Amino acid sequence: MSQAKRVVLASRPVGEPKATDFRIEEYASPTPGAGQVLLRTIWLSLDPYMRGRMSDGPSYAAPVPIGGVMEGGTVCEVIASNNPDLVKGDIVLSRAGWQTHALSDGKGLTKIDPWIAPISTAVGVLGMPGMTAYTGLVEIGNPQPGETVVVAAASGAVGSAVGQIAKIKGARAVGIAGGKDKCDYVKRELGFDDCLDHRDPDLASKLKDACPKGIDVYFENVGGAVFEAVFPLLNAFARVPVCGLIAHYNDTEAKPPKWASSMMRAVLTKRMTIRGFIVSDFAARQADFLRDMSGWVREGRVKYKEFVTEGLDSAPAAFMGLLKGANFGKQLVRVGPDRV
Ligand SMILES: NC(=O)c1ccc[n+]([C@@H]2O[C@H](COP(=O)([O-])OP(=O)(O)OC[C@H]3O[C@@H](n4cnc5c(N)ncnc54)[C@H](OP(=O)(O)O)[C@@H]3O)[C@@H](O)[C@H]2O)c1
Repeated sequence: MSQAKRVVLASRPVGEPKATDFRIEEYASPTPGAGQVLLRTIWLSLDPYMRGRMSDGPSYAAPVPIGGVMEGGTVCEVIASNNPDLVKGDIVLSRAGWQTHALSDGKGLTKIDPWIAPISTAVGVLGMPGMTAYTGLVEIGNPQPGETVVVAAASGAVGSAVGQIAKIKGARAVGIAGGKDKCDYVKRELGFDDCLDHRDPDLASKLKDACPKGIDVYFENVGGAVFEAVFPLLNAFARVPVCGLIAHYNDTEAKPPKWASSMMRAVLTKRMTIRGFIVSDFAARQADFLRDMSGWVREGRVKYKEFVTEGLDSAPAAFMGLLKGANFGKQLVRVGPDRV
C-alpha cells in the first residue's frame, strides 16, 4: 500500500503562525469506495484566507478543526475512479487541501483541459485569485478611462491582475508593493504607471505625487498603514472594493482606528462607496471572467508570475512567508509531478 502525507492544524496560532501550529502526518493512501475517485495532488494553492481558517473567531467560513487537514484549492490527477463521470488521468480543480492524496465523490470537482493553459493557472490567474481581481474591480470598482486605480500587494496573485485589468479599462494603475524588485517588476513587466514601496517612510507624500488627480478606485488588499496613506487622497464618489486586510490577519485584538469617526465624515461628504466582498458573491460572473481573462492572458495583456516551493513539506514555511511578503507572485506548492 502506498504512503500518503497531509499537513494538519496542530494548534491555533496566536499572532503570527509558527511551525509548531502545523503537523505533517503520513498515512496509508486510501482506496476509493463506490462512486468515489482517488486524487493525487499536483499543485496546492496557498492563499492568505487560510490564516482565517486557522482561527475560530467569527468568520464567513468555518475554521479548520484542530487535527484537521489544512484547507486549500488544488489541481489534482484522478488516479483511480469508481465514478462514471471521471476517468483515470483526468486533471481536476478540487479542494483536496494540504495533502498528497484525497478521496472524493466527484461533487465540486471541475475538469481542467491541460491544452488550454498550464494547469497551475486554474488556482491562479484563471482561478480564484484572478476571479477575485476581476469581479472586485469590475463590479465594485468600475474604473473609467482616465481614472486612477490604486492597489497594494501589487505583485501578488490578486493585485497584479487588478492593475492590469485597470489598464485594459483605460485607467491609470498605481501599485504599492514591498521592496524595489517587486516595484520594478510591477512597473516594467506588468505595465503599471507607477509603483511605491509600502515600507518607505514617505509613502503618503510619494503616493500623493503619484496620484496628482487623487484616487478614484482603491482596491483594498492590505489595510494598515497603506490604507491610512490612501484614504485622504480618495476623490468624491471614489469606490473602495474591500477584498482583504492582510496587514491585520495576525492581529490578536480588533482596534478601531482613532480616526474612525472622521473617516465616516469623509465617506459621507465625498459620497464614497466602500464595499466588502467575497469572490463567491460573484459566482454568476464566472463565465464572463473566464472568457475575458483567458483572452487577455492569451493575448499577453495580462501577465502572471508564479512563486513555487517544492514538496508538501514546504507548505507551512511557504504559507508563513506569504503572510510576510516572502512570495513574489502567486504562491504555489508543487506537491507532485504533472504525470507519474
Ligand atoms: N475577498 C476575497 O474573496 C479574496 C479572495 C482572494 C484574496 N483575497 C485577499 O486579497 C489579498 C491579496 O491576496 P493574494 O492571494 O493576491 O496574496 P499575494 O498578494 O500573492 O500575497 C500576499 C502579499 O501581501 C503583502 N503584504 C503582507 N503584509 C503586508 C502589509 N502589512 N502591508 C502591505 N502588504 C502586505 C505581501 O506583498 P508585499 O511584499 O508587496 O508587501 C505579500 O506578498 C489578501 O488580503 C487576501 O486575503 C480576498
